[in-house]
Amino acid sequence: MKRHVALVGFMGSGKSTVGRKLARRLGCAFVDTDALVVRDHGDVPTIFAREGEAAFRRYEQAAIRGALESTEPVVIALGGGALTVAANRQLLAARAYRIFIRVSPEQVLARLRKAKESRPLLGQTPTLARIRALYDRRISQYESADYVVPADRLSGRQVLDDIVDWLDRAGIRLCAS
Ligand code: S3P
Repeated sequence: MKRHVALVGFMGSGKSTVGRKLARRLGCAFVDTDALVVRDHGDVPTIFAREGEAAFRRYEQAAIRGALESTEPVVIALGGGALTVAANRQLLAARAYRIFIRVSPEQVLARLRKAKESRPLLGQTPTLARIRALYDRRISQYESADYVVPADRLSGRQVLDDIVDWLDRAGIRLCAS
């Protein structure tokens, strides 16, 4: 069975935007696990507030499992905390090419300030200190990806091209490509 492509990285690193375009470029279906959770359980801040992070992680894990079960390869945009769950890390390592879109904490802050959706783990007004604390705890999980895109100085288009080039160089053919 062909592997899927999973985009990993911190909140606000552009996984969903790049993922949607990558899927279109490769001719694959696109799955956004946060969007699946919202569809089935309501919006993310409300889940965190009413049921807590553990409930959100359960819903997220079910969405990831479902996406990985697809018989055709899909492009998956993961939430920034998906790799904090060991079972997700194992499943993704076995079933997907994991691509880390690496954006510095400073860039994350700038991007999140413009974002519409709030991120419960960072509070109402994200600060660099809070982003850094979470980022430092997670970076080794992101860095274990199969490929890292240093995305700080790249446009969305350049990130996309970089991923497509890597897939080509690695001889990875997916979907209609
Ligand atoms: C989270 C990231 C969010 C969302 C939730 C938790 C995290 O997704 O899943 O707020 O723990 O980093 P994005 O990475 O798309 O913001």
